[in-house]
Amino acid sequence: MPLVDMKDMLQHAWANGYAVGAFDVVNLDFISGVMDAAEETGAPVILSLAESHFEYFDFALLMAAVETAAMRATVPVAIHLDHGESMASAVEAIRRGCNGVMVDASDRPLAQNIEITRELVNMAHGCGVPVEGELGYVPGVEGEDAARHPGEIRYTTVEEALRYVSETAVDFLAVSVGTVHGRMRGTPQLDITRLAEINAALNMPLVIHGGTGLDDAQFHALIENGVAKINYYTALSDAAAQQVRQNCEADAAAGFTSQVKDVPAAIRAEAARCMKLWGAAGRGAEVLACAAPWAPVEHLIIYNVSGLDRRGVHDMALEGKRILAAIPGVREVFIGESLRDGDRYRYTWLVRFCHPAVIESYRHHPDHVDFADRLFRPVAGDRISIDYTEILPRVEA
Ligand code: 13P
Repeated sequence: MPLVDMKDMLQHAWANGYAVGAFDVVNLDFISGVMDAAEETGAPVILSLAESHFEYFDFALLMAAVETAAMRATVPVAIHLDHGESMASAVEAIRRGCNGVMVDASDRPLAQNIEITRELVNMAHGCGVPVEGELGYVPGVEGEDAARHPGEIRYTTVEEALRYVSETAVDFLAVSVGTVHGRMRGTPQLDITRLAEINAALNMPLVIHGGTGLDDAQFHALIENGVAKINYYTALSDAAAQQVRQNCEADAAAGFTSQVKDVPAAIRAEAARCMKLWGAAGRGAEVLACAAPWAPVEHLIIYNVSGLDRRGVHDMALEGKRILAAIPGVREVFIGESLRDGDRYRYTWLVRFCHPAVIESYRHHPDHVDFADRLFRPVAGDRISIDYTEILPRVEA
């Protein structure tokens, strides 16, 4: 299961002077293309889902595919919510399988950005999920044309970065040093001196948004000065669109599958180029050996009930499922009843947590405490409750 802790992955990249690509995916062709590139080059990789793209796909459906791709990979993978718009988006993303989140409040005044991010960090860290903050302003929307970029670049300052990181406890910081999302407007002017100062002051993995359009030397300068994660989308989208145009030119009557033929290969080629250029190629095995595997916890309760008839138990369990499934870090709630009369325990809860950290945050969550004290514990004195983690194959260094 090569889904790994994103913090460990980026720490390795930062300490070893390379950057992991965080590629925004919008459909199955993007997932296949990026994962094929990672397998081909042996690179750790981040599959990213940007909320600005959610109008183009069903998030829950695509996340099932993203998670399947990650779990069957031989290279280490993390799954990230890119530019989340709210706390609710981050909670939903974690429930769907993201193990890194960002809620972008970089267009707000500093104090507000700090407040929103601090609240996000409290929630996400209770789920074992690292948080990327963004400071300064990187204009534009990934995939859009330069002409539509709203606003001007606002560069991150060292003073603001120090205050933001110490007051929010984010795990990675996205900095604004001259890039824009989407296609570049003219030649980007990167402020590498500023980046070097931020890196020296913060001592933590830095992130660059708007990777499309930078040249090789610019990428190297960014990585040499602390950038460990590069967000990349528009160039993949352009490679895919170019392939579709080529297919249509070759056959004007092409049906859908002929029009999209070889799109994964076009995405793969561009993603593989980046993985080599950014130094991630060949690093997968080292990351697998040092990064904590991203393994869920099964919180199992088996119980008998006194004082409620069968229908009453079902109502209590259904109400509990509704309440508990909404707690951050809970991925799934199974409520069950034994199929055989006479089993030692008749009922079960099987609550899947995304990470062991959820054992504590769930136990103390007010909704859990209220449900358990009011409706469950008074009728379920005869119970066993155990947290299980999965037994995973050993990874040799
Ligand atoms: P580009 O689309 O410019 O590569 O930027 C992607 C990005 O920053 C996603 O967050």
